[in-house]
Amino acid sequence: MCLGAATAFIVTTAPTAAQTAPPPAFAACKACHTVQKGAKSGVGPNLNGVVGRPAASLPGFNYSAALKASKLRWDPATLDQFIAAPTKKVPGTRMPIGMADPAKRAAIIAYLKGAQ
Ligand code: HEC
Repeated sequence: MCLGAATAFIVTTAPTAAQTAPPPAFAACKACHTVQKGAKSGVGPNLNGVVGRPAASLPGFNYSAALKASKLRWDPATLDQFIAAPTKKVPGTRMPIGMADPAKRAAIIAYLKGAQ
């Protein structure tokens, strides 16, 4: 039998932990955002379940008028654009900085997808 293939199988199917542990790139977001379900929002809203939900829809969070009026839905492509340059995608948003590196954004979005 082919050991190489068996190893690859184990490596690609094993890690569910990877979905719950934040990637290093998320350090840039952690100062303002929590992700755990039910965790208190910080400067920014809690991001649990953010993938798929309408923008500015977390009850109780004091969003900017700009984000509320944006009518965006956070599918992965829209999230990617917002995180790349928040104030360009939504002029007037209170989120001051994003993440310019596309590979890091992809890691962050994959992590947020797993955080439901
Ligand atoms: C300095 C604080 C700060 C940092 C750092 C920050 N954010 Fe934000 N974020 C905010 C604020 C404030 C809002 C609400 C914006 C508004 O109401 O216009 C927000 C909103 C968001 C939203 C929209 C959530 C919703 O419920 O509609 C997403 C998604 C998001 N941030 C992701 C990120 C990611 C990913 C990073 C890291 C690359 C990050 N943020 C870094 C402060 C921050």
